[in-house]
Amino acid sequence: MRGTVATELLEHANEELGHADLLANRILQLGGTPLLSPEEWYKMTNCGYETPADPYVEVLLDQNIKGEQCAIEAYQKLVNITKDKDIVTYNILLSILADEIMHEEDLQAIAEDIQLMKTRK
Ligand SMILES: [Fe+2]
Repeated sequence: MRGTVATELLEHANEELGHADLLANRILQLGGTPLLSPEEWYKMTNCGYETPADPYVEVLLDQNIKGEQCAIEAYQKLVNITKDKDIVTYNILLSILADEIMHEEDLQAIAEDIQLMKTRK
């Protein structure tokens, strides 16, 4: 399942980068300045960052599922904050939230497949 997981995580990483781009552009449109350094990202993160120190596929999946669940929670809060106040930001956040829900579901499905393979041996 390593190849499947690697492909999925790469796809998600590219989409997360797209989210960062959408959000940075929206911050600029609103006259703000996006956080420019990784040190600031670590300080301001909602979900932290868990180093993928253990390469075992189930550990990686578990770490990433937790990260997606945290992202879903964080974006849900932002969606609620922007609703009826800033329709453009709201729509961006809603589309990112939908992606995060899909990421979490994709990873859960792979984790379930691994569990099924283990029980059928
Ligand atoms: Fe995600």
